[in-house]
Amino acid sequence: MSKDQEDKHRCRLVTVKGVPLVEPVADNYGAVSSFSPDPSDLLIASYPKAGTTWVQEIVDLLLHNGDIETCKRAITPSRMPFLENSARPGLSSGIDLLKAMDPPRVIKTHLAFQLIPKGFWENKCKVIYVARNAKDNLVSYFHFDQMYLIHPDPGPWEGYIQKFMRGELPWGSWYDHVKTYWQEREQRNILYTFYEDMKENPRREVERIMRYLDLSLSDDVISRIVELTSFEKMKENPMANYSSVPVFDQSMSTFMRKGQVGDWKNHFTPGQSAEFDEDYKKKMKHVHIPFRTQL
Ligand code: A3P
Repeated sequence: MSKDQEDKHRCRLVTVKGVPLVEPVADNYGAVSSFSPDPSDLLIASYPKAGTTWVQEIVDLLLHNGDIETCKRAITPSRMPFLENSARPGLSSGIDLLKAMDPPRVIKTHLAFQLIPKGFWENKCKVIYVARNAKDNLVSYFHFDQMYLIHPDPGPWEGYIQKFMRGELPWGSWYDHVKTYWQEREQRNILYTFYEDMKENPRREVERIMRYLDLSLSDDVISRIVELTSFEKMKENPMANYSSVPVFDQSMSTFMRKGQVGDWKNHFTPGQSAEFDEDYKKKMKHVHIPFRTQL
């Protein structure tokens, strides 16, 4: 695709309650904020590129007793609607998809805590939050923004780091995102999960999610779910790897890109890393979230 064609798709950011969102998502926010979930609905929330799709696949398999054929019934955003997503050719908006589904539904969101529709808290819906260390999250987002033609052009790497630190990327500040869900997790019964924990011991994390969902599956089924949600298996699963989404230019990067902890070391120079760490300490000083940047 030529640069001109690419630029036609790319959207500007519009701020909603202090959070920059791509314009069609911002325009759609009115319908999102008044959405009323059912108490049985489950919300999977994350900052973009934290491992959301991985947790979605684990949850779908847990809810269907590890039956992969059922979990291949449709692509991820059709099975588990993306709450704030606006309509585009070939895919209805998240809200329209949800209206056409009966509860219990699994709903994905990247919204910052203050933008989550109040109904989720009023109805005491279960919420799984997925968090990933800032540096790997940023690297993953940088590659994603090159291929996701709806987002503003990421520009060069050095400037992208600065935008991340200033919270100027779509869905806003990573720091505020991870902190607010962390601070609210006990009061709101949010299951806070880490990408690094899933890489370290996927079975332990699948079981943790299973217990949170009040499910009890056999050891064999749990083993199957762990295998089916490995990076390699999901990368080759067309219903989970976003290979058919037209606004993703997968010649730039693939959605299932590397799936590793510590890939940031291949991108940050020592100077960039030191500056990032210094800034991180200031932004995260009032809250200790046990992120790991290597295993
Ligand atoms: P990388 O770009 O570092 O490879 P999200 O679903 O929130 O958009 O996150 C996407 C990131 O999660 C990508 O990271 C992707 O490769 C990674 N990912 C997706 N499925 C995975 C899996 N089964 N195991 C490990 N990482 C996975």
